[in-house]
Amino acid sequence: MILGVGLDLAEVARYSFDERALAWFARRVYTDEEISYALRKRNRAERLAGFFAAKEATRKAFGVPIPWRSIGVCHEPGGKPQIVLYAPALDFVERRQVRAIHLTITHTATHAAAMVVLER
Ligand SMILES: CC(C)(COP(=O)(O)OP(=O)(O)OC[C@H]1O[C@@H](n2cnc3c(N)ncnc32)[C@H](O)[C@@H]1OP(=O)(O)O)[C@@H](O)C(=O)NCCC(=O)NCCS
Repeated sequence: MILGVGLDLAEVARYSFDERALAWFARRVYTDEEISYALRKRNRAERLAGFFAAKEATRKAFGVPIPWRSIGVCHEPGGKPQIVLYAPALDFVERRQVRAIHLTITHTATHAAAMVVLER
């Protein structure tokens, strides 16, 4: 059963940070894993925009403003992205009996989009 869906679009230019801005913004928004992933890839801003879109899409799917750093994106060995939730977001998963969170991300030089589906 589908419990919720979320879709979000992010403008890459807004995530094109210099080192100082990245350090300031990153601490509030991204998980350590997301930062190190973006830093070792080309087109860092596209990745960061994609992660932000994934976090927004997750919030929309749950319908609650989950803290940014409680929602993380990690990757399977083949590159497929996955949402990982940390406390306090884990409470929402238990309360709503969410069994799977499906995520897809796409990005170009200008925009990144993400879609999340919650399944019970
Ligand atoms: C993975 C693939 C779909 C990326 O397509 P693309 O048009 O180059 O790039 P997009 O911007 O649309 O997507 C990039 C995002 O796809 C996601 N992705 C990467 N590998 C993926 C995979 N195996 N399955 C699903 N999503 C994947 C990632 O989130 C990636 O962004 P990130 O690395 O910044 O997190 C493409 O390289 C491909 O088809 N590889 C073949 C292997 C495969 O498993 N394909 C699955 C889809 S049919």
